[in-house]
Amino acid sequence: MSTSHTAKTAMILDCDTGVDDTMAIMLACLAPEIELVGVTTIWGNVHTPIATRNTLNILAMCGKGDVPVAHGAEGPSNGDIADPAYFVHGDDGQGNKGMKANYGKPVDMSAAEFIVDACRKRPGEIELVPVGPLTNIALALQLEPNLPNLVRGVTVMGGTALTPGNVSPVAEANIWHDPEAADVVFRAQWPITMVGLDVTMKVLLEPKHFEKMNNGGGISKYMARITEFYSDFYEKYTYNKPLTTMHDAIAVALAAGLVKAKVSPCVNVEVDITNGPGRGQTVCDLRGVYMNFPPQEGAHCYVPLELEDGLPDYFTNLLASAGDPAVDVS
Ligand code: BDR
Ligand code: CA
Repeated sequence: MSTSHTAKTAMILDCDTGVDDTMAIMLACLAPEIELVGVTTIWGNVHTPIATRNTLNILAMCGKGDVPVAHGAEGPSNGDIADPAYFVHGDDGQGNKGMKANYGKPVDMSAAEFIVDACRKRPGEIELVPVGPLTNIALALQLEPNLPNLVRGVTVMGGTALTPGNVSPVAEANIWHDPEAADVVFRAQWPITMVGLDVTMKVLLEPKHFEKMNNGGGISKYMARITEFYSDFYEKYTYNKPLTTMHDAIAVALAAGLVKAKVSPCVNVEVDITNGPGRGQTVCDLRGVYMNFPPQEGAHCYVPLELEDGLPDYFTNLLASAGDPAVDVS
């Protein structure tokens, strides 16, 4: 874990605010190394209005009600109806234990408009961190084709190179929800880091981390409370042990340099947009593995395959010392 930073990383998070998205937002609010410029919302784990509501509530809870939230697309690029993953994140996207009240309001701009506007104002400074389906980012590219020259880079939670998928044998959820948008985003000429299941399935919260959270202040108690449902899902259907993934928070941590990749080749990546069994697969050219990944013509996608240790401890210590919520979270 590396925590010695001088400049803060300015980031816009794009979230389908379920449980691990909440971890990502809390990390971005609490880590002193991060400047959270805004949060844009998307469907995926829940429908977009619920993602917007959850995002506003979590920011208010963390005393960051001044961070702008922009409501995003409500379905995939191909016009299909959104099909949320309530069975993983609960009906409210907060493990069925979210707060009753509603705090704050979204800005009067769409997610795509907000992204373009913020990046035009601060050219070269902002890291886009989409941790849901990539519809908003594809729309932002449509609105401003020069966007790749206006951002610092893009760190996506999504895809998988060598690890099985989590929606189909080969596809990860965020890419599978909108492969056409992902295709647009991966083709755009900007540096992308694909934080896929190769690493996110291995960075895990254990019971000792939840014990720590429950012994901390109200913010960490809330995080522990809403994670129970999500943890049960992972124990029952994935690990057969009490282990919980932190998917989206890992993308935030990597984008801000809080954790570093030990192996992260820059390779060509293509998204399968066919309607066959490969739909939504991120096809990563890792053939250079036996030669320490020599440069590939046109490659602009980094694929972390192995990370430094320490993120679950860092995250839970940060949460446990965050104090009590700025608003009523009952
Ligand atoms: C991704 O899908 C969603 O369930 C999570 O929030 C994460 O962004 C993992 O495949
Ligand atoms: Ca997500």
